[in-house]
Amino acid sequence: MTEARVIDGKRMAAEIREEVRREAAQFFDTTGIRPRIVFILVGNNPASEVYVRNKGIAAEEAGFAHETKSVPVETEESALLDMILAVNEDPATHGLLVQFPLPQQIREERVIELLAPEKDVDGFHPRNVGRLAIGMGNYFAPCTPLGVMEMLSRERVPVAGRHVVIVGRSNLVGKPLALLLSQKSPKANAVVTLAHSAAGAKLGDLTREADILIAAMGVPRAITADMVREGTVVIDVGINRIEDNTRASGSRLVGDVDYDAVRHKASLLTPVPGGVGPMTIAMLLRNTLTAAQRQTLKRQ
Ligand code: GUN
Repeated sequence: MTEARVIDGKRMAAEIREEVRREAAQFFDTTGIRPRIVFILVGNNPASEVYVRNKGIAAEEAGFAHETKSVPVETEESALLDMILAVNEDPATHGLLVQFPLPQQIREERVIELLAPEKDVDGFHPRNVGRLAIGMGNYFAPCTPLGVMEMLSRERVPVAGRHVVIVGRSNLVGKPLALLLSQKSPKANAVVTLAHSAAGAKLGDLTREADILIAAMGVPRAITADMVREGTVVIDVGINRIEDNTRASGSRLVGDVDYDAVRHKASLLTPVPGGVGPMTIAMLLRNTLTAAQRQTLKRQ
């Protein structure tokens, strides 16, 4: 029976964070400018609170200036939009991240469209999405897909000419990842299938065709061993909390891949937690440093 090599996303993310810290220090030495990011957190969603706290710690460790603006769950949309406008206009701040999800009185599309594209280090603004789609000019790509690209590159997994099957078509992961992988560039050039739930019973036929299989549909352990061809590289983007009464907390995190079964089929596999997750924050720091560099050199 084969046994997959497991990619250590935590270690890889720590390496990238250290690289960004060193580059930011050099940038400060030459310009006197410290990259600065603002996080806006609306309400008390416990998962969002943890994510934003971890992003703040990562920014601190990278030597960035940072600020978390926490506002109550009942904040009006207009008040949040005013906060975004103020950050857009603050020349000392290079990156802005509004943590999602937002409470129901606030329309996410209004928020996304108001972000200054050059400070949108999440890569959500339509200008960034559009430039990614046509591969033109400076843009920010979303951090989780960037983390997957970086992971494949650092593990020396070739993607050019290979068949990558992505399961999940979200704006956050599946769609931008399909665009990144299929870009006409020596680092990409993959042949991409963007599969999703509408494939129904055909899904397994598609996933078994993959050289590289990326699970990003947000369904716990949905990719079972029978859906994976022997030797496939399997990247698990899912983070799902499931009930587990053997744990003191009563729950645990699992991915979208049935890890215990698929590790006997895959050649390379990412764990959950400790796989793609830590890479997301590392790429957020990378995007923020890039934002500071571009704004300083006025290359939008
Ligand atoms: N909520 C879950 N993931 C993300 C992310 O990558 N960015 C933001 N802003 N909110 C999120």
